[in-house]
Amino acid sequence: MKNILILSSKNGSNFEAIIKYFKNRTDINFKLLTDNKEAYVIKRAKKLGVEYFCLNKDEIKDFFLKNKFDLVVMAGFFKILDKETIETNTFINIHPSLLPKYKGLNAIEYAYVNNDLKTGITIHYANEYVDEGEIIFQKELEINPDWNLWKLEREVHKLEHYYYPRIIEKLLGLNVLVVGGGAREHVIAQKIKKSKLLDTLYLADCNDGFSSLGNKIEYTDYQNLALQAKKRNISLVVVGSEEYLSNGLVDILNKYNIKTIGPNKKFAKLESSKLFAKKIMKKYNIKTAPYKKITSAKKIDKYLSYFKNPVIKADGLAKGKGVYLSNDIDLIKRELIYYLNGKFDKSSKTTLIEERLYGDEVSLFSFWDGENLLHFPLCRDFKQNDKGQNTGGLASVCPVEIDFETNEKLNIYKGKLFELLKNEKIKTPFVVYSGLIITKDDIYVLEYNVRLGDPEAQSLLNYINNDWLEIFFMCSIKGLTFINLKENKKPFTTVVMTSKGYPDEIKKGVEIQNINSFNNKTEIYFSNIIITDGKIFSNGGRVLSVTSDNRSDIYRTLNDIVFEQKEYKILDA
Ligand code: AMP
Ligand code: GLY
Repeated sequence: MKNILILSSKNGSNFEAIIKYFKNRTDINFKLLTDNKEAYVIKRAKKLGVEYFCLNKDEIKDFFLKNKFDLVVMAGFFKILDKETIETNTFINIHPSLLPKYKGLNAIEYAYVNNDLKTGITIHYANEYVDEGEIIFQKELEINPDWNLWKLEREVHKLEHYYYPRIIEKLLGLNVLVVGGGAREHVIAQKIKKSKLLDTLYLADCNDGFSSLGNKIEYTDYQNLALQAKKRNISLVVVGSEEYLSNGLVDILNKYNIKTIGPNKKFAKLESSKLFAKKIMKKYNIKTAPYKKITSAKKIDKYLSYFKNPVIKADGLAKGKGVYLSNDIDLIKRELIYYLNGKFDKSSKTTLIEERLYGDEVSLFSFWDGENLLHFPLCRDFKQNDKGQNTGGLASVCPVEIDFETNEKLNIYKGKLFELLKNEKIKTPFVVYSGLIITKDDIYVLEYNVRLGDPEAQSLLNYINNDWLEIFFMCSIKGLTFINLKENKKPFTTVVMTSKGYPDEIKKGVEIQNINSFNNKTEIYFSNIIITDGKIFSNGGRVLSVTSDNRSDIYRTLNDIVFEQKEYKILDA
């Protein structure tokens, strides 16, 4: 049980917002302390059933010397507390300005009479000085010149009531669930596990290679998973892979008021329907290859004749294998017939034929929090194997350097993407994965995904040195403007170890031995493996990945692994 004390001298609207926000949390206990027996906040405490104390100045000091709380939250508290009192507990305060501007009373009025273009709120640790102490969070508010003072106050208070409870939630330690069982989810779980903001990490559908990082949740269906998450006071769920998203996991979790990283079912279609993505790109003037939709084998010749170098793509999800590329038109035709006959079941009954584009491919990951878009450094996924087949990804690097001109084009693209997300009113926070190709004339979108890439995530999450739980959580509360990315000095590379034959037929159940990170200088992330009696066995195409900022170390690690089916891509040194 976490014990929180709220201090308020007057009205207590922040107090009420906090209590209401946490009303279903069974692991937090709130009390109120006021120095004003006439304060309206007492009425609110009675109505909300919160125990309260009304004390004078001397009693307050004595009270803190005797009582310890997990957090003391000042919410419109007008007594200045001395150093000795402040040092008894962790105190935080909220102030209606962008500190250090307008400390003290009447901060909103000052911004108003000075005709400021913007103001905002600051949440900070409190010390014995007024409105000083380390800043925890700030949020800007643009001031509309038509607003009167009353309207401005209302807008500032709205921000306070929204952000204060959520920042308190963050400070109390977060219970987080990561859903999915690939190497991508392994790195996500590893980074979250390292965060200072974490209370308890939970895992659903993890693989045996990283199950020790958290507490496993077994579930029967999404409804059941949501109920279990609620019971464990989980406040954030990071969904790793697209299947959950296109099947509506986020919609169900949101019904239970659980914050998520991942779109709802409606916008998961950006990934789960190529046709949906094409239509939305057209609407926002985003460049993509010209295409035709085909559902019947009758029109194959006619449709193929529209394209110089056709590529075929299943409309729906196909585990990253739904795109077919070949220079041989007869092979394309044959494959197209397989597609339309249901090679990927329903996913390929509708197929797109599109023009093949040539150029360098990059993956752009951008976090969307419902209001703001935070772009990460570009990554590259090495998708093709030595036979020229497309795979789910065999290696990745982050960052990828591009020239000035390409960067200008990328900025134009980023602007259009922002328009799309804003105008389509996409409220659910998620990771926009733009699969881009840089052709001679411009940047084109090859595809959208709605989650982190695998194996890009392994390189990206290591290259970015921030607290990743802070990034995920801020994304879930419209707080991304407060994140400053810290990049490592050297690029990171990931190489995937696969079973022979991948992406086609592979043999499962083969033992893998001698998995040791070379001199502890590489990270090993597991995907398709199972552990039985302490022995590790392969269980799919992509088995594990190795990540480091030093490629020779990666290959030393891979080289030492004993696995009869071992294959991996060789990148330049
Ligand atoms: P997927 O991630 O399964 O949708 O596969 C996308 C991959 O297929 C891309 O990364 C490209 O390598 C390739 N691809 C898809 N569309 C095209 C296109 N129009 N021109 C060239 N390559 C394409
Ligand atoms: N790396 C490709 C993907 O995650 O879809």
